[in-house]
Amino acid sequence: MIDRYGPMRSPMSSVFIRRERPSLMAPAGPVRRGPVLDGTMCCKLASVGTQMLWYPADRPYRVGGHAKYRIFRKFLCGDTLCRYIKEENKMQIATQLTNQPKTKPDQDQLGFGIHFSDHMFQMDYTPDLGWHSPHIEPYGPFALDPATMVLHYGQGIFEGMKAYRNASGDIQLFRPRDNFKRLNHSARKLCIPEIDVDFVMTALKELLRVEKDWVPAAAGTSLYIRPTIIATDPFLGVRASHSYRFFIILSPVGAYYAEGFNPIKILVTREHVRAVRGGVGDTKTMGNYAASLLAGQKAQDAGYTQVLWLDGVDQKYVEEVGSMNIFFVIGDELVTPELSGSILPGITRDSVLQLAQQAKMHVSERKISIDEVLDAYETGRLNEIFGSGTAAVISPVGEIKYEEQIIKIGDGSVGPVAQRFFDAIMDIQYSRVDDSMGWVEQV
Ligand code: COI
Repeated sequence: MIDRYGPMRSPMSSVFIRRERPSLMAPAGPVRRGPVLDGTMCCKLASVGTQMLWYPADRPYRVGGHAKYRIFRKFLCGDTLCRYIKEENKMQIATQLTNQPKTKPDQDQLGFGIHFSDHMFQMDYTPDLGWHSPHIEPYGPFALDPATMVLHYGQGIFEGMKAYRNASGDIQLFRPRDNFKRLNHSARKLCIPEIDVDFVMTALKELLRVEKDWVPAAAGTSLYIRPTIIATDPFLGVRASHSYRFFIILSPVGAYYAEGFNPIKILVTREHVRAVRGGVGDTKTMGNYAASLLAGQKAQDAGYTQVLWLDGVDQKYVEEVGSMNIFFVIGDELVTPELSGSILPGITRDSVLQLAQQAKMHVSERKISIDEVLDAYETGRLNEIFGSGTAAVISPVGEIKYEEQIIKIGDGSVGPVAQRFFDAIMDIQYSRVDDSMGWVEQV
């Protein structure tokens, strides 16, 4: 193949020097432009002897709000230039804005996960290029081959985090890097290539700047962030996919449960288990949630909001509640099940533990059996139970049904420990107090 702008030489004999000149302007007058070998449209900026200066024609591009030209010095070799451009450009975030912005929903009627913002972030992975082609584009459906692997074998993972609007109107995130680190933990267990945490933080912030008007301001509302990776090979054999898509979508949300911060009723199931040790219960993979649906439906049919999950081996030890981690206040001890491999390492769970330790509470991460919970109830030491998770933050439990026994916790109102953590975490998330833990990151 011949580069339109000159004869092609062996890439081995080519030398490239990349220069960035943020203030360089494109030349006045006609410029030679045309595609190099991969189809990237390039412009010739100047010739100096046998050397030519080129830049990709779709520049200036925006990087963090600054206009830049990226200049390539070319020594008469098209294919090396095009590979160079591919490599150099592969992590530039291109932004295409919608020309049909949606009407924003009423902030007092948001619900959870119903509304979606105007734009989404997306990038793809292939073995030759790694993660590449990051871009922000109008929110919309993907066209997927019906054989796309995630649709058949569930090789997909996700995260949940939130952006908050503080009293000054600024937008901030709560421990977002921990979410991306956990996404990488899920990736390792699902044979998915890891993402670069710093890069996806940049991408997320860029998306949030585009969507800043979608971060609601009403009390208790936030913008839920759903980073997701799916396996995209169109292939029906069972193996890890070679190609993947990473995307981030945004949803303005209010309370997760219809009960809001009021105590929920939970049903202990022995018929179903959520996860087993050695499996993927400690990851945020789609299948864990699919596996929880039948038990959740049965609980709801019986008048309960959620299921309390026992361990998958002995069906004796408490693991999680619904899609949240669980805490018990027994006497003066704050207990949560230790991370056994089948429990999701929740970021809110960790925040509760750190705040409790800071407050010098008596905290334990240990096995806790359902028999111990019943015994604590019978002996009057079961003071509180609450769930913790990104979506609901803290969710007090008011009633548990285990086989034929019904346990009512406290007087049906929110307990002081649950209230304390709910307030403490929300105060940090909305910057109503100093962030002494260093958990908040500004957008
Ligand atoms: C969370 O609150 O952390 C969750 O995982 C809930 C989400 C799946 C909606």
